[in-house]
Amino acid sequence: MLSSAVADQIAAGEVVERPASVVKELAENALDAGATTIEVEVQDGGRDGIRVSDDGSGMVRDDAVLALERHATSKIRRAEDLVGVGSFGFRGEALPAICSVAHLEIETAPSDGEGTRVAAAAGVVESVDQVARRRGTTVRVTRLFHNAPARRKFLRGARSEWRSVTEMLVGLALTRRDVRFSLSNDGKSALVFPPATSLRERVGAIFGTRVATSLLDVEDVNGTTQVSGLVERPADVGTAGRRVHLTINGRAIRDPGIVRAAEAAYRTTIPAGVRPSLFLDIVVAADAVDVNVHPAKAEVRFRDRWQVERTVELAVRLALGTMDAAAPLGVVPWPSHSSPLPPVTVDVEALRPDRGAAPGFFSDDALPVAVLDEPEPGSASGPAPESVSDVPPLMQLRRTYLMFEHEQGVVLIDQHSGHERVLFERFMATLERGDAPSQRLLFPMTLHLSAAEAEAFESEQNLFRRLGFEIEGFGGNTLLVSAAPMPHPRFDAERCLRDTLASLAGDRAPSAVSRHERLAATVACKAAIKAGDELAPSEMRALFIALRDTTLPAHDVHGRSTIVQLSWEELERRFGRR
Ligand SMILES: Nc1ncnc2c1ncn2[C@@H]1O[C@H](COP(=O)(O)OP(=O)(O)O)[C@@H](O)[C@H]1O
Ligand SMILES: [Mg+2]
Repeated sequence: MLSSAVADQIAAGEVVERPASVVKELAENALDAGATTIEVEVQDGGRDGIRVSDDGSGMVRDDAVLALERHATSKIRRAEDLVGVGSFGFRGEALPAICSVAHLEIETAPSDGEGTRVAAAAGVVESVDQVARRRGTTVRVTRLFHNAPARRKFLRGARSEWRSVTEMLVGLALTRRDVRFSLSNDGKSALVFPPATSLRERVGAIFGTRVATSLLDVEDVNGTTQVSGLVERPADVGTAGRRVHLTINGRAIRDPGIVRAAEAAYRTTIPAGVRPSLFLDIVVAADAVDVNVHPAKAEVRFRDRWQVERTVELAVRLALGTMDAAAPLGVVPWPSHSSPLPPVTVDVEALRPDRGAAPGFFSDDALPVAVLDEPEPGSASGPAPESVSDVPPLMQLRRTYLMFEHEQGVVLIDQHSGHERVLFERFMATLERGDAPSQRLLFPMTLHLSAAEAEAFESEQNLFRRLGFEIEGFGGNTLLVSAAPMPHPRFDAERCLRDTLASLAGDRAPSAVSRHERLAATVACKAAIKAGDELAPSEMRALFIALRDTTLPAHDVHGRSTIVQLSWEELERRFGRR
């Protein structure tokens, strides 16, 4: 039988690894006690001392003494309470565990006036006194690991421990935006986060307004699963340090599966290997998640993980699919620290009169040649007439960019990248369904290929067929092409096929993308109109409408922007108008 002191030390090994974990437990207790202000002071990065003060409920004398006893939690009474537990703590282990490896002093009062001070060391209560203090609790931890030299040795330098403390508090501050947090080290104030009314405001206080304004809003619901938050605009991904913060039902957690799902939403909008910043709050039904699977409660178990991950991916995808996701030229200023943010960029609803329900201009029931032809207003295959007349005047610049004016600024579309995105989504749909419209060539063409190109064709020939190519092997490395898709009137089937095969042959397939995606992206790139192609007004309009109806209009398939915008605010600033 273990003595309870030993058991506490073992528990301490799970709960108390380093100063940051002590700060975490104490700050979470303060939050559980309903604090609206939490002050954290550490000495020597937390190696020499930690003090956490709150203005929460406080404790009466008996409870303050009891709090140091193992399993003396006030937060659950019965095993059933564990389901859907809402507080941070619920095991009643943290204070005894900390106390078993340090000196601990609690000063607490349930209301202004008479309070209690309990001093304890190595798990033993040494004194209980009356003190005068304000409502709330202050816990002081000193001489951490004084009786556990092996653990003391594992502490890192002050800077490193300090960094962990900061990280941890930033995590809590992102989780509980309504609470005021302050943090100081060796008497020097380091961080102050005033109470915030939104995630964006808190992110601004932590990482700066520039970061805060550039993030995209996420907001989506699927059944009882709700996802909200902020994610990095694809154009910004990789430009600064990455940060991921997830909460499930208000509790910060690590969850590689959910992170992967959110990252999957960025597929084709950013280059492989770079990873976006994500701040996501996920809310699920209380009985759909088990939080009691990890000693520091940093991981959870879902009843239906697939459903949650799917909802996250779709929610992020939705955020990236708006015009807001387009790269801005110049940052929209944030008026002041505390006022709520203005919408950052273009209102996509204004661009998309019939969002969601709009028949895709490039849906496969449209005529295959229609890609760069403007549909007849009211024609069965085209979008509703309002959405055609809704197109702003467009101007082609340098035979490369389409420019138009929008409520909030000037917008530029890269015609090649934009068209590539349009064709990519269309080819993906065709590959899934395999009913591509194709045109029989008047004169079948013969292609002589290199061995590698012939091999590339060989391995993807079914997919080529699904895209609408009719191709036969003709002995050796020669192919006979008798029919080809006709995605737009300028399409050069032979050149597209040659370039695609050359590109596939030279490509060491990155495993992150599916074969469908790889082929659709390659063919789209080769089939799209090029920079330098002069477009007729009707073609510009058709491209505009088609791009607007894609799921990710602001990004091409290589992770580059298709759209950039210059806000009126930025222009006004440049011209000294504001
Ligand atoms: N800052 C605080 N304010 C009020 N009560 C507290 C505070 N810290 C701890 N307590 C009380 O002490 C108990 C034990 O805390 P702890 O060991 O962290 O266990 P748990 O948080 O799992 O309940 C809590 O349940 C709570 O009743
Ligand atoms: Mg606790």
